[in-house]
Amino acid sequence: MAIVIAIAQQKGGAGKTMLAAQLAVWFGMERRVACIDIDPQGSLTAWGLLRADQARARADVTVQSVTGWRLSRALDQVRASHEIVLIDTPPVLDGDQARAIREADLVLVPLNPSPPDLLAAEATLKRAAEERRRVALVFNRAPAASRLRRRLEVEIGARGLLLLPALGNRMAFAMSFAEGLGVAEAAKPGLAGEECAALGAALRDL
Ligand SMILES: Nc1ncnc2c1ncn2[C@@H]1O[C@H](COP(=O)(O)OP(=O)(O)O)[C@@H](O)[C@H]1O
Ligand SMILES: [Mg+2]
Repeated sequence: MAIVIAIAQQKGGAGKTMLAAQLAVWFGMERRVACIDIDPQGSLTAWGLLRADQARARADVTVQSVTGWRLSRALDQVRASHEIVLIDTPPVLDGDQARAIREADLVLVPLNPSPPDLLAAEATLKRAAEERRRVALVFNRAPAASRLRRRLEVEIGARGLLLLPALGNRMAFAMSFAEGLGVAEAAKPGLAGEECAALGAALRDL
């Protein structure tokens, strides 16, 4: 039976699609991973199409585009045959994102370490709490150290929310995504690879 992770955050550009791709590849090195893209923008689907022609794509990852109301059925089709399912959602808490939250074992919320991004996540956090879903936040494009980041870490901790290891703002993430790959598939994964592995391992250990 698959573990279903919905990646949700109302703020566009927070890194939902990037996290979906990087985590799919990281998990896909050892497990069967299915990605379901319910964002009509289809960025993750486009990445999946690039992968199909990418000789260096080694991880076991499938990507399908599905309209939100068909999510349940799509999940039924992949649950038994995959170990991890990642759902990439649109940047608005509409019926589709709500559906993804309801279907998920874990709701992963990416945010830049700045107050407006935490604010933008509130509706998603509230909905996940109402649905009694487990939630984890993750800083994306995070500076290694900044007072703002520290402040948000404290605030998130004080609220009893779980914060996972962050991803920095790294060209390697953007480059691998543009090639239909993940950093875990790079010949030299480098710092981005280390960050992705730390995040993946933390998620696995949940
Ligand atoms: N950690 C990162 N380092 C560098 N670029 C990133 C990173 N995360 C996201 N990006 C870039 O930022 C933009 C927005 O990210 P994306 O994942 O599409 O956000 P969302 O899906 O939440 O709208 C994309 O161009 C993506 O390549
Ligand atoms: Mg996206």
